[in-house]
Amino acid sequence: MDLRDKNVVLTGAAGGIGRLLAASLAGQGANMALVDANEDALKEVAAGIKHSKVIAGDLSSAEGCLAVADAAKKALGKVDVLINLAGLMSFRCFEEEDLEVMERIIGVNLLGAMRLTRHLLPGMLERNQGRIINVGSVFGSIGFAYFTAYSASKFGLRGFSEALRRELHDTPIKVMYLAPRAVKTPLNTGRIMRMGAATKMNMDTPELVVEKILQAINNDRKEVYIGFPESLFVQINQRFPRLVDKALAAQNRIARAFAKEKGN
Ligand SMILES: NC(=O)c1ccc[n+]([C@@H]2O[C@H](COP(=O)([O-])OP(=O)(O)OC[C@H]3O[C@@H](n4cnc5c(N)ncnc54)[C@H](OP(=O)(O)O)[C@@H]3O)[C@@H](O)[C@H]2O)c1
Repeated sequence: MDLRDKNVVLTGAAGGIGRLLAASLAGQGANMALVDANEDALKEVAAGIKHSKVIAGDLSSAEGCLAVADAAKKALGKVDVLINLAGLMSFRCFEEEDLEVMERIIGVNLLGAMRLTRHLLPGMLERNQGRIINVGSVFGSIGFAYFTAYSASKFGLRGFSEALRRELHDTPIKVMYLAPRAVKTPLNTGRIMRMGAATKMNMDTPELVVEKILQAINNDRKEVYIGFPESLFVQINQRFPRLVDKALAAQNRIARAFAKEKGN
């Protein structure tokens, strides 16, 4: 899709990937509603970007999503592109996972994307134009130990994207699912970074991920996995999951010590 003069709703716009993506989308001529939880951080991002409106909101609840969708329609008039990028993660042994955090992860990463889509899709169908872009993760295809709630949320997001893409096949609305591997952003806390170093986890820069996201949008791709060999592991996990169980066992033993540490 050519983004010039398109109206884009970008969630997670104040995050590590979001703030760079917002600037790049503006560079391609998009008008934007920038959505995130932290209003001050959003204002800072929006300050450098022409044609952008700030919508602070909490995407973990039904009311929060409805308020954000209504505010986006009001700010932009019509929405051509919805980019569901907001997300959160937890790195814990599941038996120690905080139930509220677990619900928040599913609430934002999965239900938040579904709710916003549900609110904005009817307008796209009426105007015969629209793109829904869901940012998942490699953990949405390979379940990772100690990222259990996060993996579940991204598996769900991938299923939602695939089903909706097929449902909308005979319409001009396109649905894309994008899955980065680990990215150097604040989402990865100190414990995760130390675990990543100990297990030699590959990490991309947010700049590279933003470049890939833009290419995918411009070329209307359906599903994109960022990073090799992770994109290959996704396919191996689908065909031969027992092989991946074995391959990850040693790494999981190392990760466990970090998952059990207190704090971030
Ligand atoms: N970084 C990675 O390793 C990686 C890898 C694969 C996929 N991804 C995906 O890429 C997306 C962006 O991640 P990122 O790395 O840019 O993370 P990030 O820097 O933590 O940004 C995520 C943004 O989402 C916002 N958010 C969280 N909960 C929210 C809520 N309830 N309502 C509104 N906004 C909320 C956060 O706001 P607050 O910080 O104020 O809560 C934050 O600004 C996520 O969906 C993530 O799962 C990231």
